[in-house]
Amino acid sequence: MLACPASFFNPESIRDRQAGMTDNVVLLMNSLVIIREIKESDAEEFLNLCNRIDAETPYMMFESGERPTTIEDQRGEIKDILSRDNQTILIAEKGNQLIGYLAAYGGRYKRNRQTVYIVAGILQGFTSQGVGTRLFEQIEEWAKKRKIHRLDLTVMVHNETALALYRKIGFAIEGRKKHSLFINDSYVDEYWMAKLLTY
Ligand SMILES: CC(C)(COP(=O)(O)OP(=O)(O)OC[C@H]1O[C@@H](n2cnc3c(N)ncnc32)[C@H](O)[C@@H]1OP(=O)(O)O)[C@@H](O)C(=O)NCCC(=O)NCCS
Repeated sequence: MLACPASFFNPESIRDRQAGMTDNVVLLMNSLVIIREIKESDAEEFLNLCNRIDAETPYMMFESGERPTTIEDQRGEIKDILSRDNQTILIAEKGNQLIGYLAAYGGRYKRNRQTVYIVAGILQGFTSQGVGTRLFEQIEEWAKKRKIHRLDLTVMVHNETALALYRKIGFAIEGRKKHSLFINDSYVDEYWMAKLLTY
């Protein structure tokens, strides 16, 4: 896995946004993957990506076809997310295709605005190639620029790949949510995991 300066590949694509967010081009398995912040104009492709991931994996919240969002709803949701400094969605793009995302939802109030809840998903054909690791590295960099202190997430206890990733990058299990989900006629437990960022 090799991190390359984005400007070497596509100077026009670099957007030095208010908080210093730049596109990040990485070489993964011999192909270029761009990791960048979502834009409202990504709404349709992003919705398609989420629908595909929901259908491919049993580990997301939505079951296949359950996600209610229309493209307009999706555009509105992206706008709402980007309207606050403590939340964002990072997307991974290969060629012209979106292949994965990491959404970070920030607390709304003074007392929890330094806490961010994370959801991540990658198309099955692009898992286990380092994309998840890069998305988490990028969100940590983004979070540190905003003095965010706590990254939160939940994960099904049998999701071995996700657990391995979260442990590898420093998330700790804080508790077990017994029977928090109901999937295929069975109750499923989740772990609460978190990583505290220090400065
Ligand atoms: C979980 C997910 C986000 C991880 O992203 P990824 O790009 O596949 O992960 P990476 O390739 O960066 O690998 C990260 C670590 O996960 C572990 N891992 C990756 N693939 C694995 C596999 N097939 N089996 C076991 N562990 C695996 C390894 O520890 C790896 O670290 P290493 O490469 O240094 O050994 C992704 O697989 C995914 O979207 N899965 C389906 C949806 C999902 O589970 N989302 C999370 C819900 S909480």
